[in-house]
Amino acid sequence: MQKILVINGHPNPEASVAGKAVLNALESSRCEMQIRTLAQLCGPNGFDVTAEQEALRRADVIVWHFPFYWYSVPAILKKWIDDVLTRGFAHGAGGTALHGKKLLLSFTTGAAAQEYAKGRAMNWPVEAFLPPLLQTAYLCGMKTLAPVWSNGMIFIPGVHTPKEYGKYMIQESGRFGYDDHLDAFYDYEGYGQHRIQQENGRFSAYGYVSYFGVMALEELMSEDPAEAYQAQQGLQWGRIE
Ligand SMILES: Cc1cc2nc3c(=O)[nH]c(=O)nc-3n(C[C@H](O)[C@H](O)[C@H](O)COP(=O)(O)O)c2cc1C
Repeated sequence: MQKILVINGHPNPEASVAGKAVLNALESSRCEMQIRTLAQLCGPNGFDVTAEQEALRRADVIVWHFPFYWYSVPAILKKWIDDVLTRGFAHGAGGTALHGKKLLLSFTTGAAAQEYAKGRAMNWPVEAFLPPLLQTAYLCGMKTLAPVWSNGMIFIPGVHTPKEYGKYMIQESGRFGYDDHLDAFYDYEGYGQHRIQQENGRFSAYGYVSYFGVMALEELMSEDPAEAYQAQQGLQWGRIE
């Protein structure tokens, strides 16, 4: 079993909805992992760099899990990268600690998937924003897995029970022709429960959330498609001094 280290780069994990849903789903999956929450680990003097580097040494797969902020990682994760991936540890002469480890970028975006296209609000595909992170991994000799982001995220604020979710889907989602003369005959609760089960959904304090990326993540871990992805990106990796 591979040792997975999740670096949770959310600056305010208590308020996280989307990112937390992904982490919860991951924790209940078959993967064995340690989660390090940077917001809790960053003291007044910054990070304990030795502890962070030791955690990295023990891991086979490193996951940078973060909300997409201004097309990149939040400042706290950038600080962690700046402080922890030091010369002599992660790159430069003798800096081989991360060689051969896998890196997965796992993030949530606020904008809908279709907005990440030319002429739409974000004007570029999501992948266009990732090269600085992919290059960071490359310089450190890590193999990048195909990134996962929250295309499959469903978040419906204010919906807290299976009945409310069923009602939302039938009346408001636009997927069905709703007829209020038949209201008494709809089984909102049953339909809500059916969908929740299908989507592996859950209720947070803020509303209903489900995420489809986790199966893909588990597949990624087991099939090791890092090399295929790297080849697809046109990158060559090997020893970097
Ligand atoms: C400072 C800041 C910058 C953001 N920048 C982006 C962005 O560049 N692209 C985007 O799609 N969403 C952006 N968002 C939205 C967040 O990505 C979104 O709220 C987050 O992924 C939701 O996850 P959470 O519930 O775990 O916080 C930004 C949000 C904040 C607060």
